[in-house]
Amino acid sequence: MPIDIYWRIGTHGDQSSLRRRETSRGDWTPLAPGGITPGVRGGRPDGYTHLDHMADVARASELSGFVGGLLPSFPFTDDPWAAAASLARETTTYRFMIAYQPGFLHPVQAARMSATLQRATGGRTVYNVISGGGGPPQLWWGDKVDHDDRYARTSEFLDVLKGVWDGGPFDYDGRFYRVAGAGLPEPLAGQPFPEIYFSGSSPAAIAAAGRHADYYLSWLEPFEALAAKFAQVREHTEAIGRSPKFAVRIDVLARETEQAAWAEIERGWRHVDPAALRGPEASGDSVGWLRGQSFVNWPVSRPRDLEAAPNVWGGFHLLRGGPAFGLVGSYEQVAARLDELIALGVDSFVLAGVPHLEEAHRVGEHVLPLLRHHDLRDHSPLAAPSLATPSLTAVKGTV
Ligand SMILES: Cc1cc2nc3c(=O)[nH]c(=O)nc-3n(C[C@H](O)[C@H](O)[C@H](O)COP(=O)(O)O)c2cc1C
Repeated sequence: MPIDIYWRIGTHGDQSSLRRRETSRGDWTPLAPGGITPGVRGGRPDGYTHLDHMADVARASELSGFVGGLLPSFPFTDDPWAAAASLARETTTYRFMIAYQPGFLHPVQAARMSATLQRATGGRTVYNVISGGGGPPQLWWGDKVDHDDRYARTSEFLDVLKGVWDGGPFDYDGRFYRVAGAGLPEPLAGQPFPEIYFSGSSPAAIAAAGRHADYYLSWLEPFEALAAKFAQVREHTEAIGRSPKFAVRIDVLARETEQAAWAEIERGWRHVDPAALRGPEASGDSVGWLRGQSFVNWPVSRPRDLEAAPNVWGGFHLLRGGPAFGLVGSYEQVAARLDELIALGVDSFVLAGVPHLEEAHRVGEHVLPLLRHHDLRDHSPLAAPSLATPSLTAVKGTV
């Protein structure tokens, strides 16, 4: 069974390291008098936008052996659809996993956009279907639909999107959507349908994922908890005759030695707000986020108080935005934990590291080779026969 390994492309700046919270790559960078970063010279924008930086990360991770990149979507980010369309031209085989909340698009429009992107990229679009975490960000989008209904809407949305994909005419009369005689026109109709990565830990999420997910995507959790969650998803999906694969989104801090990796965490820890060590403050209605916080005995005082299992660290959210759990250790330890996750049933990973550009090279050069005994799906540019130009082939042959 091929294993897919994606990287994450930040859609809102990037930190220069886990020791600094402020972003410093491209034009999401706060301007300070005299500041110099990639994107800022003498405190003024220098024309290197964050989209340029995303292109650098996409190219670096494509060359480092990742099959594609996840483009997250929040009120404070660039738009991942438009970013994917522009980044596709910077890459050759790299896939774009676009995070989006179905409620904010009409499904027929989403189908048309996706089919155009599939035609433009040769089928490199992947969906990360998210249904939102509630709270103020949901209202930022003007979305007042409650938690479980957001999943009901997601499910209807995907029914309509799939219904119109091959051309129609398609009729649908649901709670959230109604279409009549809808369908994509030639030559948009019949493009390969994007793989669906589906997230959410609540019963409502698992019910909707059961119907639609190609991959059930989770944040990392201690492995027994993750195995129990997968078992729950499996039980539900088997009952309705489906069998999605499993994927995990994981932050990785891997270094030559275990000591070097923890030393980097210690350096970042010095800048953590002491109030955050008392424990989480609930915001929104995300079951998955609360679940993640429950694996830690708050309050904590030292970084390793958050090590829920060997190399499984639940403090990444204190050093950068995003989910709590990730892997910390030597290259060999991180690869061994990924091996264990594959044994546990994981078919696909979305890895991430800060800064995303440098860490894409590091993880690509030091961790991915340790996983080569698995059947890693290869989307590197040289894997596309038409791109193995004579000059490249000649160079390879003479070294
Ligand atoms: C791997 C992963 C990636 C996510 N990415 C995003 C994102 O880019 N934007 C967003 O608003 N929510 C994102 N979410 C959050 C989901 O929208 C949703 O709030 C979360 O899964 C909680 O659902 P639950 O209450 O069913 O657990 C992500 C969740 C997961 C697991």
